Amino acid sequence: MSGRILGASLAQLRTTRTSVKWRFFEPDVLPVWVAEMDARPCDAIVDAVSAALLRGDTGYTWAPPFAQAFAGFADERWGWGPEPDHMLVVPDVMIAVSELIHVLTPPGGAVVVSPPVYDSFFGFVESTRRRLVSAPLDENGRLDAQTLEAAFREAGPESVYLLCSPHNPTGTVHRAAELAVLATLADHYGVTVIADEIHAPLTFADATFVPYLSLPEAGAGIALVSASKSWNIAGLKSALAIPGDDARGRLGRLHEVVRHGANHLAVIGQTAAYRRGGDWLDQVNREIAENRALLVDLLATHLPAIRVMPAQATYLAWLDCRELGLGDDPAAVFVQRGRVALSSGLAYDPGAAGFARFNFATSPEVITEAVERMAGTVR
Ligand SMILES: Cc1ncc(COP(=O)(O)O)c(C=O)c1O
Repeated sequence: MSGRILGASLAQLRTTRTSVKWRFFEPDVLPVWVAEMDARPCDAIVDAVSAALLRGDTGYTWAPPFAQAFAGFADERWGWGPEPDHMLVVPDVMIAVSELIHVLTPPGGAVVVSPPVYDSFFGFVESTRRRLVSAPLDENGRLDAQTLEAAFREAGPESVYLLCSPHNPTGTVHRAAELAVLATLADHYGVTVIADEIHAPLTFADATFVPYLSLPEAGAGIALVSASKSWNIAGLKSALAIPGDDARGRLGRLHEVVRHGANHLAVIGQTAAYRRGGDWLDQVNREIAENRALLVDLLATHLPAIRVMPAQATYLAWLDCRELGLGDDPAAVFVQRGRVALSSGLAYDPGAAGFARFNFATSPEVITEAVERMAGTVR
């Protein structure tokens, strides 16, 4: 494969992108916020979706090929063999999270999350009118057994834990031992673990992603997967829900209508990604690694006061900007004074004053310009 995937110039991006990342802010703002890549698409996906449109294959979706494609990918990449027959196609990861919370917890029940964590976890828990219980990551961005246990005790039985694996925004790849402790605690306290593994294919080459359900202790959990983040097709929404061996009945509580929302063209695109998008994924992961090194270098040169959380996955950098003295929400200052849009750390953790998230799945040109603009705000 020749040419960079993450190579589009700023001028190209401004004229070709109409998604929220590029249109939410005024045109002079450089967007390095929402988790979309500035990537040219994978040929396998473009061909599959275009061919379906051209042949008039635009009806309601049929899930088995999607489930089989994911099972093949999971086996090849992680040596994990989930059973396709037990997977359910769902409209997207967060709709599945919301529907599962409804069927797994009673009204007024609790959902445990580990901040700093994907901002929509908070909104979706709120929308289900469940009680949010916090089990923060430790200062190194890792799950902490004592913190989890205290939160599970507070949440009580029939509650849910939303595992983000790998973890957005810190890029933490949870270790097998950490996940096993989580599963054991969850069983003990009657908590169902929903493992959101949307970022898993974006694990760096020197780290090992452990699928939650591959652990013998995790049979009561449910995993959610989608190709949307890793192949940059957030606009082609669909996902799969996978039950652990002891969770088939729990997943079966989802009403059959939940499956109606999955988009056939999205399922076709995602199936192509899992089947034939491996080379593209490997290349984008190499470029993400180069971009991360570039970002770390640029920050060390221009903004040495910022501490970058070490990460093992994702194209997102969690930046500790507290020493810059820009107040609780440095992203607000960067966008106002520097015309560069990062995500506010407060969205991932209401207590994370002084943090921001930087999306570096873009061209080196955009990363360089973004850091220069950030540096300009503190000079
Ligand atoms: C951890 C995590 N889960 C879910 C999503 C969104 O997934 P979906 O669009 O399938 O709801 C994102 C998007 O950034 C994410 O980071």
